[in-house]
Amino acid sequence: MIVGVPREIKSDEYRVAMIPVGVEELTRAGHTVLVQAGAGQGSGIGDEAYVRSGAEIVHDSPEIWERAEFIIKVKEPMPDEWSSMRTGQIVFTFFHFAADERLTHAVMKSGITAIAYETIRDAKGTLPLLTPMSEVAGRMSIQEGAKFLERPFQGRGILLGGVPGVAPANVTVLGGGIVGANAAKVAAGLGAHVSLLDVNLDRLRYLDDVMPRNVTTLFSDRHTVLECISRSDLVIGAVLIPGARAPMLVRREDLSRMPPRAVIIDVAIDQGGCIETSRPTTHASPTYLVDDVVHYCVTNMPGAVGRTSTYALTNVTLPYAVQIANKGIDQACRENSSLALGVNIKQGKVMNKAVAATFGLEYVAL
Ligand SMILES: NC(=O)c1ccc[n+]([C@@H]2O[C@H](COP(=O)([O-])OP(=O)(O)OC[C@H]3O[C@@H](n4cnc5c(N)ncnc54)[C@H](O)[C@@H]3O)[C@@H](O)[C@H]2O)c1
Repeated sequence: MIVGVPREIKSDEYRVAMIPVGVEELTRAGHTVLVQAGAGQGSGIGDEAYVRSGAEIVHDSPEIWERAEFIIKVKEPMPDEWSSMRTGQIVFTFFHFAADERLTHAVMKSGITAIAYETIRDAKGTLPLLTPMSEVAGRMSIQEGAKFLERPFQGRGILLGGVPGVAPANVTVLGGGIVGANAAKVAAGLGAHVSLLDVNLDRLRYLDDVMPRNVTTLFSDRHTVLECISRSDLVIGAVLIPGARAPMLVRREDLSRMPPRAVIIDVAIDQGGCIETSRPTTHASPTYLVDDVVHYCVTNMPGAVGRTSTYALTNVTLPYAVQIANKGIDQACRENSSLALGVNIKQGKVMNKAVAATFGLEYVAL
């Protein structure tokens, strides 16, 4: 198979979808790997490292899309790439369709097979390709929150851990999955008072066992959410209903209860966000104010730490990429039910129930 690795074009996206060891594994199995010039630069990987592993360097993106039967990316195809997608091509990347109706229709029209990293689910019920990026985003959310709480960055001028004689910050984490647990752990490590909310009681029981004493687990209902945000300096949005739009937990009128210049980091923004006033932002311009509350809603947070994130991502995507290249998509999905769950759209048909329900489209089983 001809496999293509284009350079990411989303704002401040420094990850790349394949590292040289992946190229080596695919070329050894008889495949051709095309890597766009400069694709690895943001992660500190030069073109020559890919060439040494057997890749062919291609200078422009349209040529890769034209020649490759199987495209591996990190972020969803950007509008500039939509016209390059072609019938029968396999595209393996994060899509987050439920947050983007235009992308959904563009992909349906293109005739590609869209395999979304974020809906591949393993036998344990976890999302193995989302997990490492959620670990990065969860840890990073506190780093970013701490920064934007500083007054020069419009925040309320609070140090997360406080100092002896001065109380630490209050942090609320909405959702106790991978992002939430990693955020809570880092915030607690810095000394903040952390409230960690979820609707899954088994998950809360587990978190209660493993989290340090300055993390309080709470069942997430409307009253508890309001009570927590009203005393929080920093709120992290980390909820997920796989494939669907994120549930809206904080409404616009709720912002007036929050302390002035509190900070919201809505990590769930890639699924539409769990705060009514969230709208996607970029690393170049990450924050904005609504009702005197700082909002940070960057959709590709791990992109900023490409050297960590590229390796964390490719560790988990490569085994699936090798199966797709070796067996073709139909056989690979028949033999691997986790991978089959990643097929969201195939030749115009929507094969993910949550995506179909979000936009009122017909669902067709794979
Ligand atoms: N912005 C970024 O760059 C970035 C990076 C990685 C992940 N994400 C996003 O972060 C979100 C969380 O990802 P994750 O891997 O932690 O998911 P996860 O499935 O591990 O955790 C989500 C948690 O939310 C909980 N939940 C659902 N409804 C809830 C509610 N009403 N109240 C409280 N909790 C609720 C679930 O029970 C679950 O424990 C996803 O939308 C993911 O796409 C964003």
